[in-house]
Amino acid sequence: MKRVVVGLLLAAISVIASAADPVTDRYNKACVVCHASGVANAPRFGSAEDWKPRLAKGIDKLVLSVKNGFNAMPPRGMCNDCSDTDYQALIQFMSTPKK
Ligand code: HEC
Repeated sequence: MKRVVVGLLLAAISVIASAADPVTDRYNKACVVCHASGVANAPRFGSAEDWKPRLAKGIDKLVLSVKNGFNAMPPRGMCNDCSDTDYQALIQFMSTPKK
């Protein structure tokens, strides 16, 4: 029970934080659709295991993959107004282990 309460509190805090953070905001508008659950082999949000082989390619290559599209990922990853810097921040955000 205590765990549930703590979990709910954390969820509430992260919702508040996301409203103020442009990276989280962009993630929630575009990348989340596929990267939350790993649709079609997309590296999952916060999964060190999924991201390890991707990060090994280097950040510049990963930004290019998003811009050009990569297998099942559409070009620009459904974020048409994202800059290279935004993509870098999003990749860092998604690939940072969450547990
Ligand atoms: C429509 C689904 C979809 C959306 C939306 C999407 N992705 Fe992806 N993404 C994928 C899939 C599927 C892969 C894995 C492709 C593969 O390896 O076959 C992937 C792979 C990646 C990779 C690894 C590329 C590589 O070279 O290994 C990065 C980085 C990435 N996505 C970033 C993003 C970012 C940033 C966004 C949001 C702006 C985003 N994606 C939105 C589906 C999506």
